[in-house]
Amino acid sequence: KCIFFKSFQLSGLIQVIKDLANAFIPSGKLVELVDKGLAPLVKTLPSPFSDEIQGIADVSGTPLGEIMLFNIFYEVFTVCTSLVAEDKTGKLLHARNLDFGLFLGWDTHDHSWKVTEKLRPLVVNLDFQKNNKTVFKSTGFAGYAGTLTGMKPGIFSLTMNERFSIDGGYIGIFEWILGLRDGMWMSFLTRSVLENATSYDEAKNQLAKTKMLAPAYFILGGVKSGEGCVITRSRESCLDIWELNLKEGRWYVLETNYDHWKEPLFLDNRRTPAMKCMNKTTQMNISLATIYDVLSTKPVLNKLTTYTTLMDVVEGKLEAYLRECPDPCMPW
Ligand SMILES: *[C@@H]1O[C@H](CO)[C@@H](O)[C@H](O)[C@H]1NC(C)=O
Ligand SMILES: *[C@@H]1O[C@H](CO)[C@@H](O)[C@H](O)[C@H]1NC(C)=O
Ligand SMILES: *[C@@H]1O[C@H](CO)[C@@H](O)[C@H](O)[C@H]1NC(C)=O
Ligand SMILES: *[C@@H]1O[C@H](CO)[C@@H](O)[C@H](O)[C@H]1NC(C)=O
Repeated sequence: KCIFFKSFQLSGLIQVIKDLANAFIPSGKLVELVDKGLAPLVKTLPSPFSDEIQGIADVSGTPLGEIMLFNIFYEVFTVCTSLVAEDKTGKLLHARNLDFGLFLGWDTHDHSWKVTEKLRPLVVNLDFQKNNKTVFKSTGFAGYAGTLTGMKPGIFSLTMNERFSIDGGYIGIFEWILGLRDGMWMSFLTRSVLENATSYDEAKNQLAKTKMLAPAYFILGGVKSGEGCVITRSRESCLDIWELNLKEGRWYVLETNYDHWKEPLFLDNRRTPAMKCMNKTTQMNISLATIYDVLSTKPVLNKLTTYTTLMDVVEGKLEAYLRECPDPCMPW
C-alpha cells in the first residue's frame, strides 16, 4: 500500500519534470530521449545502485528511464545549508536544510516551485539494516537510491551540498552518459561511505580521495570533541578541509553552496544570516532545538526548502521535518 501510494506521487513528480522539459523543447524530443536513452545506462551503474533502480522501476511501474532521470536530478538542482556544531559538553550535533528545485517552474499563483511542492510528499526517513541491525539511517526520497543526508549511529554523520564550479560543473555527468565512467556519482559516494566506512577518519579519507563526476561539499561530523569538518572537493581532488577548532573559537562549521574562503554570491547569501544566528545563539545554548531555530530563519529557510534534518550521532537520533515557508519568503 505504502509503495503504491508513494509511486503514485512519484509519477506526479515525474510528470511535472516532463512538462517542464517539454516547455523548453516543445517537440517532445527530450522526453523521448529520457525514455529511450537513459534506460540502457542503468546497467552501467555500480552495484548495488543498478539493481536497486531497476527494482524501483519494476515495483512502481514507472519507466526505467524516468526513474533514472529522477535519480540524476538531485545531482543537479540541490542547494542547501549544512552545519556541524559542538555543544559545551563536547557533544556533536549535525543538521541540514535541503533546498531543492531551483529554476524548476515557479508557480506565480501559489508563490511556490512546482518540483519542490511535488517532492515534499516523497520525503522518507530510512533505516538501512543488515542482519536486523541498523547500519545507518538517512533522510531520503522514495524512489531515490543515492543519499544526501545520513548518520551511522555512534560513529559519524554526513551530508552533501552541491558545489557550483567552473572547474568541473556537470562535464563529468555528460562524460558519464557518453561512456567515460571512472568517476563516482556524488550521492552514491555519500551512501557508500555511510554503508561501508567504519570510522570518522575512514569516512573523511574516502570523501577526500574518491574521484567524482562533479564537485561537492561534504559535511562530516564525528563523536569526539573536534570531529567536524567541511570537505571542499573538485572532481579529481580535495581542495580544502575546514575543521572545528575550539582553541580558535570555531565551535561550528557551516556550509551553503560557496567555498568558505570566498564571499557567497550576493544574490544567494544564506551563509551570513545563518552564521549571525549561530553566533547569537552561542555555544552555551546550542542544541537540536536552537539549531532548528537557526535553520528556520529566512532566507536560510526559503521556498525551496523541502526538509530539515537534525542528527544527534551519539544518541543515534535522526529527525526530519517537512518545511513550508509562509509568505513573505525568498524564492531561494
Ligand atoms: C529479522 O527479524 C525478523 C522479525 O523480527 C525475523 O523474522 C527474522 O528472522 C530476522 N532475521 C535475521 C537474519 O535475524
Ligand atoms: C559496501 O561494500 C560491499 C562489500 O564490498 C559492497 O558489496 C557494497 O556494494 C558496498 N555498498 C555500496 C553502497 O557501495
Ligand atoms: C561569527 O563568529 C565567528 C567567530 O567569532 C566570526 O569569525 C564570524 O565572522 C561571525 N559571523 C557573523 C556573520 O557574525
Ligand atoms: C536558549 O534557547 C532557548 C530555546 O530556543 C531560548 O528560549 C532561550 O532564551 C535561550 N537562552 C539564551 C541565554 O539565549
